[in-house]
Amino acid sequence: MFTVALGPGRDLRPLEVFHAEEFARHLDRCREHVRPWVGPAFVTDTVEGARATLRRYADAAAGDGARLFGVWDAGVLVGGVMFVSFSAATGSCELGCWLEPAAEGRGLVTPAAGVLLDWAFDDRGLHRAEWRCRADNVRSAAVARRLGMTLEGTLREAWPYRGTRHDQQVWAVLATDRAAGPGRPAT
Ligand SMILES: CC(C)(COP(=O)(O)OP(=O)(O)OC[C@H]1O[C@@H](n2cnc3c(N)ncnc32)[C@H](O)[C@@H]1OP(=O)(O)O)[C@@H](O)C(=O)NCCC(=O)NCCS
Repeated sequence: MFTVALGPGRDLRPLEVFHAEEFARHLDRCREHVRPWVGPAFVTDTVEGARATLRRYADAAAGDGARLFGVWDAGVLVGGVMFVSFSAATGSCELGCWLEPAAEGRGLVTPAAGVLLDWAFDDRGLHRAEWRCRADNVRSAAVARRLGMTLEGTLREAWPYRGTRHDQQVWAVLATDRAAGPGRPAT
């Protein structure tokens, strides 16, 4: 297993099937916090549900598709980043992220997502990385902006949640946009 250091005591690692119990305990700390903003399949209630999510990503990764990575702070799994989708064939991917409430506002996710962007663009030669969020998800949009992404448009009423359809923003960065240099989110 590899670990990427994000800062003192902060690590990014692949989040794998063997983490199921730890991932389930983490979900117990953040389920209601993330529920409005992430896909419903991600928010499970049991260890078996958590394991199924990890298995789904492991299967996708084996096919060079979606991948899941956890962020550990002081040895505790506090959130993560993922390739929601990844296509070497089209040169496009979509990133996502989440954190438990106590880990918000500490600069954990932007550098973690930057590691994924570096890999997608510099190692895998992808051309386009997207970020999709509910239009009222101010913190998520701020991460996209910090990553140097451009707001490309709003999909009207594309995000159904508890009987209401919300607008969804599409942010993206291209390999050719990365004027600040490889791995350096624009400031
Ligand atoms: C989206 C989400 C991951 C963003 O978390 P976040 O903590 O705001 O983002 P980052 O980890 O990049 O941290 C940036 C924040 O840390 C602060 N910060 C503190 N120390 C820092 C440091 N050393 N370096 C950088 N930023 C730091 C920044 O000022 C910023 O806070 P601010 O926006 O209040 O000014 C989080 O709000 C979340 O999990 N939401 C629920 C799930 C969700 O919406 N997922 C996305 C679905 S599209």
